Amino acid sequence: MGQTGDPDRWWHGGVFYQIYPRSFADSNGDGVGDLPGIISRLDYLERLGVAGIWLSPVTVSPNRDWGYDVADYCDIDPDYGTLADLDTLVRAAGRRGIAVLLDLVPNHTSDQHPWFVDARSGPTATYRDYYVWSDPSPGGGPPNNWVSIFGGSAWELDGASGQYFLHNFETQQPDLNWWSEDVRESFDDIVRFWWDRGVAGFRIDVCNMMIKDAELRDNPPATADDPIEQRLMGVKSVYNSDRPEAHDILMRWRALADTYAPGRLLIGETNVEQLSVLAQFYGSGNDELHGGFNFPFINAPLDAGAMRTIVERTETLLAPGAWPIWTGSNHDVSRLATRWAGGDLSRVRCALLLLLTLRGTPFLYQGDEIGLTDGPIEQTDVLDAVGIRFWPHYKGRDPERTPMPWANAPGGGFTEPGVPTWLPMGDPTACNVADQEAEPDSVLAFTRRAIALRTGSDDLSVGPYRSLSSPEGTWAFVRGGHTTVVVNMSDAPQAISALRGTVTLGTDRALEGTAVEGTLEMPPWSGAVLER
Ligand code: GLC
Repeated sequence: MGQTGDPDRWWHGGVFYQIYPRSFADSNGDGVGDLPGIISRLDYLERLGVAGIWLSPVTVSPNRDWGYDVADYCDIDPDYGTLADLDTLVRAAGRRGIAVLLDLVPNHTSDQHPWFVDARSGPTATYRDYYVWSDPSPGGGPPNNWVSIFGGSAWELDGASGQYFLHNFETQQPDLNWWSEDVRESFDDIVRFWWDRGVAGFRIDVCNMMIKDAELRDNPPATADDPIEQRLMGVKSVYNSDRPEAHDILMRWRALADTYAPGRLLIGETNVEQLSVLAQFYGSGNDELHGGFNFPFINAPLDAGAMRTIVERTETLLAPGAWPIWTGSNHDVSRLATRWAGGDLSRVRCALLLLLTLRGTPFLYQGDEIGLTDGPIEQTDVLDAVGIRFWPHYKGRDPERTPMPWANAPGGGFTEPGVPTWLPMGDPTACNVADQEAEPDSVLAFTRRAIALRTGSDDLSVGPYRSLSSPEGTWAFVRGGHTTVVVNMSDAPQAISALRGTVTLGTDRALEGTAVEGTLEMPPWSGAVLER
């Protein structure tokens, strides 16, 4: 229970941190990160001040999609360790006040999951109905025009039965049939399995896609005003995504979550373009997801006007009680230090300042806190199936998945010297944790100060958001009763007027301690928090 009496304050006011386990810390010198590696870095995460970590999948996977093709939902992949290691992690993190979220992948399994192996054995198989099967279209060929997110038809012919199965992603990732009550019950058990082990909750993979049109209707053709992905696919994803019935499943899990005390969290990968659609995933504010990732924000440029509009609209559209989630990077998009900041550390600091002071829970991606840029990936390095397929038009997601540079040392402190890492390490001399630990003005030091300020402040943790008017290229807002955030997101100096308070955090540390009564002169790409 927080100072405000709000039982959700620990995660509303807290900062979460996404770990991509394969690339976080390797304890056994095989070039692949693992659970004992994460445990060995908990002190670092505690000092960073995070309230929770989300682990990208650590469950059993043949790694067609690097963990997002699950072959056993209730066991740990040997690459990462054992269930006992996971239990140790949950306990050791808990002792440091850090909650653990796992990644739940309910839209599809691996084709090597025993359910699919059985389902494929024939039309009368026990688990046949766990997947989406259909006869060919009357003229032959796939049952309809649905296209996989990863390219090509979303249907694969099963030669033995003559029926097609659906895969919205890789062929090796068959979609589950969420119209089946058996599938729903199986997932109730999976969710309980982890909650009973003390896991705090889940990030739910593509939760807006789980259920498909029961009649498998053709998607309409894409039009010029559709987003680029849909134009490339040639169709709008109307019937194989964003179906209203997905909400029933989320409500079912929320009801299950609420049977646990303290409450367990459900944070959705709500990859939708419209904020009004995102808002629907919160239900009435307390009966669906606790939080949904805001993709319009992730996909926005680092531009004051564009971002402010998204934040204001989100604030307006979410139901009372619903809590926003803010992110700049994840394992699927270029890191914020590259995509938003082009490697410029002033821009990185502005982005971090925003993420850490908006109303809502920030999810930092590993490396954001040190301003880590995308790793160098050549065609011969590519392991992401999507990158292999679309190179050089799209180079895939490996650049944002390269190993965490812990130190300026061979192996980057990620693994032992001389061990080849699963993806290239990049150049740990350019950016690493140890060097920044020793530097009081580093991005890491700034991130720590920002998290500490946020955690210790009721205004920044849970206070309401209100925009202030400010010159073009800048963004100013109030949090709660006493805190103002101002960011100059332009290449020119800017004066922001009608301010009052003392700067308690500045992207430029020299600003800290300045008492402002009236106007604050802000250098290009700088930001500050003022308290009074
Ligand atoms: C989500 C994951 C992504 C994965 C896809 C299919 O978008 O974040 O990494 O490839 O789902 O599971």
